Amino acid sequence: MKRIVIQFGGTGDLAQKKLYPAYEHLIEEGFDFTILALGRRFKSPDEFSKAMVPDNASKSFLQRLQYLYYDMADPNATDPLRDKIEQIIDSSDEVELIYYMALQPSLYEEAIRQILEVDSQLSCQCVLQKKIVVEKPFGFDLDSAMRYNEILLKAFDDKEIYRVDHYLGKEFMQNLLILRFHNDIIRSIWDNRSIESIQIVFDETHGVDQRLGFYEQIGVVRDTIQNHIMQIITYLTMNEPATLSPEDIAVEKVKVLRSIAPVSEFHTGRYESLGANSGHVVDTPTYAALKLAVNTYYFAGVPIYIRTGKMQKDAKSFIYVKFRNTTQKVMHDDTIGENGVIITIHPELTIDISMNLKEPDTSWKSKPVRFRFNQAETFGANTPEAYEQIVKKILQGDKSLFPSMREIIESWRIVTPMLEHERHMEVYPVRTLPRFAKDLAEENGFSWFD
Ligand code: BG6
Repeated sequence: MKRIVIQFGGTGDLAQKKLYPAYEHLIEEGFDFTILALGRRFKSPDEFSKAMVPDNASKSFLQRLQYLYYDMADPNATDPLRDKIEQIIDSSDEVELIYYMALQPSLYEEAIRQILEVDSQLSCQCVLQKKIVVEKPFGFDLDSAMRYNEILLKAFDDKEIYRVDHYLGKEFMQNLLILRFHNDIIRSIWDNRSIESIQIVFDETHGVDQRLGFYEQIGVVRDTIQNHIMQIITYLTMNEPATLSPEDIAVEKVKVLRSIAPVSEFHTGRYESLGANSGHVVDTPTYAALKLAVNTYYFAGVPIYIRTGKMQKDAKSFIYVKFRNTTQKVMHDDTIGENGVIITIHPELTIDISMNLKEPDTSWKSKPVRFRFNQAETFGANTPEAYEQIVKKILQGDKSLFPSMREIIESWRIVTPMLEHERHMEVYPVRTLPRFAKDLAEENGFSWFD
């Protein structure tokens, strides 16, 4: 079978930093497909290669990478695209076209229209299969997400549509499910009887940089909260699925999302120098802090505190599950530390369980110590990148790492009030935590686990 990945947004940041390296690794692993990169940043394939492909790219990858100058605004744009696809198909008798849309949500509608046009005019004496891959955020809000989906469903079956949230390709996410559902000792402590609160922190040191054009229309809520953060919450709080099949997992995730109460504590800010070189005012939130609750029998009453955004002092991403500390009261000793599970994603993947054990040479004094799992030490440093896992699943036709449309709709519903609230923004100096994140902690009587 001849496979062709038609890369919309082929000259963009995502393609260059994440997708091309993933394609290259997969080709080296033995997957066979051609990549047709589309873009209008470069006129010729040579310019494209010089700017987008590293000098040390493998020969097998370069042989499979082609470029077509493609201006979506040109009314005749689809003619050369169709010709190029026909040329790559050549005399193959079985073909799979994978349309990969790494585009601004505002361009989806037009891109889908063009794909349909190409599709209807393509002439090939072959058995033709197709898939379409759509990057997050899927839509711009609830309405547009539903509209895009309707348009997609006119041309593709739901099973041919892959809605990407690359966090589902991350090892730590998959490990959350294994940690919770392959360990009996965790099952019995993983609910509101034992858990006091959860923190999810995703601080990044970089700013919006060359992604300004994309980001200024999106902002932090659409960029990470509607997708990555909501997915993390489902993995942390869902009930056990009947099996670990994609369908059974999706059922449980949707239940969590539907149980999330309207978010009442939510704040955003943008870093001071955002868009400083762009010549126009950019008022888009780059940081958010919020509190939410999952109102299921097992998680009602457990506050989930989230903070995420750009231009922070340190890059750190972790989830901190804090257990109740009844022991302090029972033992009449408020120096006894709390128990917790700390899942650190960045700088490296570790899972710590923090316990109190006796400090030597003391009389019944304890000290918190950590039992640590380190992904790289245990399994080696070569865990595949999230995008590699995502693309591999697309090639294999396995939908286990992709959110369903129901999940996406529910996530939009949850973040809609946040989008409406976004206009009240704090401007924070770069490399500092916005004041509202500190206030959220103070008002709720907790400290960020930094
Ligand atoms: C992307 C967002 O989806 O996720 C970026 O668009 C963010 O703004 C990135 O920086 C974080 O992903 P990762 O894989 O670097 O944790």
